Amino acid sequence: MNEDYEYPYPSPELASEHPFITYEHERFTENVMLDRAEGFYEEMNQRRSIRMFSSDPVPQKLIETAVKTASTAPSGAHKQPWTFVATQDPEIKREIRIAAEKEEEKNYLENRMNKEWQEALAPLGTDHHKEFIEVAPWIVVLFEQRYEICPDGTTLKNYYVKESVGTAAGLFIAALHHMGLATLTHTPTPMKFLNKILNRPENERPFVLFPIGYPLEGVEVPDLKRKDLPEIFTTVL
Ligand SMILES: Cc1cc2nc3c(=O)[nH]c(=O)nc-3n(C[C@H](O)[C@H](O)[C@H](O)COP(=O)(O)O)c2cc1C
Repeated sequence: MNEDYEYPYPSPELASEHPFITYEHERFTENVMLDRAEGFYEEMNQRRSIRMFSSDPVPQKLIETAVKTASTAPSGAHKQPWTFVATQDPEIKREIRIAAEKEEEKNYLENRMNKEWQEALAPLGTDHHKEFIEVAPWIVVLFEQRYEICPDGTTLKNYYVKESVGTAAGLFIAALHHMGLATLTHTPTPMKFLNKILNRPENERPFVLFPIGYPLEGVEVPDLKRKDLPEIFTTVL
């Protein structure tokens, strides 16, 4: 197939035991690639976490498509160890808000977050009030599946769960931004209360709570600067 490779993938033995298909790939010119790369960067660089949402409704189809995009993420041993639980039910959102604020009161007001953490958060000005949970039209909680429960009740291991779910979360956030919605990566820790409210099984652990909707008109965000390339990138040549 290619003289660079002594050991082709898949090997003939592997291909005889498991199905393989040809990977479809469109190769662009370098100029086109640069345009696409810069365009995508510009778009993603516009993304911000927001903490005041409009209550305008958002079609479920958009949420489902973002979840489908997230679920294209690579995952350890292709286990896709994630569950996205979405609700727009006002009662459930209220219950989540109350439980989240209870935990956040301990974090912010009773010093469960240490001083260094609180100082790091100071420029963001976050506190224990989480009204956006009730106002945003959708709440999507991303659960990590710590292990898999088979239909017969036996369990199977999942691999690199946090890495996999974190990757899916990134794609989810990018998909929402790309379609013109906004979200916040919210972690009102400890988040075990979400299992109870959303009736999720023991093998699942809440990873992130995403309020999703349109930004409230005129919403403000902290004037954060992102690190320049030399601070985050180096080469070993
Ligand atoms: C894992 C994770 C947890 C976060 N948890 C919270 C949170 O609980 N509350 C909150 O207001 N923001 C939270 N954030 C959002 C960050 O504060 C935000 O991403 C950061 O300030 C950069 O702002 P930007 O998203 O607008 O670029 C979290 C972000 C990440 C990645």
